Amino acid sequence: MKKHLLKMLDLSKEDILEILNLADQMKYDLKNGISHRVLEGKTLAMIFQKASTRTRVSFETGMYQLGGQALFLSDKDLQIGRGEPIEDTARVLGRYVNGIMIRTFAQEEVEALAEWSGIPVINGLTDFAHPCQVLADLMTIREQHSVLEGLKMAYIGDGNNMANSLIVGALKCGMKMSVATPKGYEPHPDVLAFAAEYGDDFAPVNNPAEAAQNADVLVTDVWASMGQEDEAKERMKAFTGFQINDGLMKKANEKAIVLHCLPAHRGEEITTEIFEKHANVIFDEAENRLHAQKAVMALLMQ
Ligand code: CP
Ligand code: NVA
Repeated sequence: MKKHLLKMLDLSKEDILEILNLADQMKYDLKNGISHRVLEGKTLAMIFQKASTRTRVSFETGMYQLGGQALFLSDKDLQIGRGEPIEDTARVLGRYVNGIMIRTFAQEEVEALAEWSGIPVINGLTDFAHPCQVLADLMTIREQHSVLEGLKMAYIGDGNNMANSLIVGALKCGMKMSVATPKGYEPHPDVLAFAAEYGDDFAPVNNPAEAAQNADVLVTDVWASMGQEDEAKERMKAFTGFQINDGLMKKANEKAIVLHCLPAHRGEEITTEIFEKHANVIFDEAENRLHAQKAVMALLMQ
């Protein structure tokens, strides 16, 4: 396993499978009363520059279950919010705590934190990537379909942090990946360059029906991510037709599952009907954040 979890591009297939296997074990053990207090006496600093429900609660609870403690640090309280450089914050935190989880805007900030802190850093979402979510997604797909290799994932909507991380995670794990985005909302160029090496296993298209054809897993995410609130109206227009609805589901395989990292906007990227039909798996996916992140923390911080 690497020293940090900054983005899926940094992980090998073996790293991903090591995390997923330990996450499965952590989930089984939690449900059977077997504890893993491998981080006893250790502290995780959690920096949040954007809102969060799942990431905050799953990291804080996970750290507690591993025997350690987590500190919630909002940018409203930290000196970062008043302009203290990330390099200085990194060097200070590196002397107090044993790991840092950060949710922020620029990926460069997370990379700088890793470079300067001297301790493991975990990306809890940036504009570029959301690796913790994608590890939970891959875990959920394996629970539902037993394998990853050979399955087809279709991502419908915005070429955002989730799309970027899903493309890399799915391709590395031997899945086929189609991504349908409106023109002008494609995934990040670095991700497209990475995916281009996978030949026919990667299909970037502008037609949702084409992407959903014979898919085993359909995934979507909000049309306006955190920080894009001002563009929300314009985005709603651009994404018309990129909704997971009954018509689109008919293109997919009969046993296809639907994933959504949440929060979901019913009536926009997904209909209420499809969301509720697949709610059990979507909330398993949310639960799996806890197990996957416990695996990541145990591997990075022990
Ligand atoms: N999916 C996810 O990261 O949720 P939060 O924004 O609530 O943390
Ligand atoms: N793409 C969304 C994901 C939220 C978990 C955002 O960045 O707001």
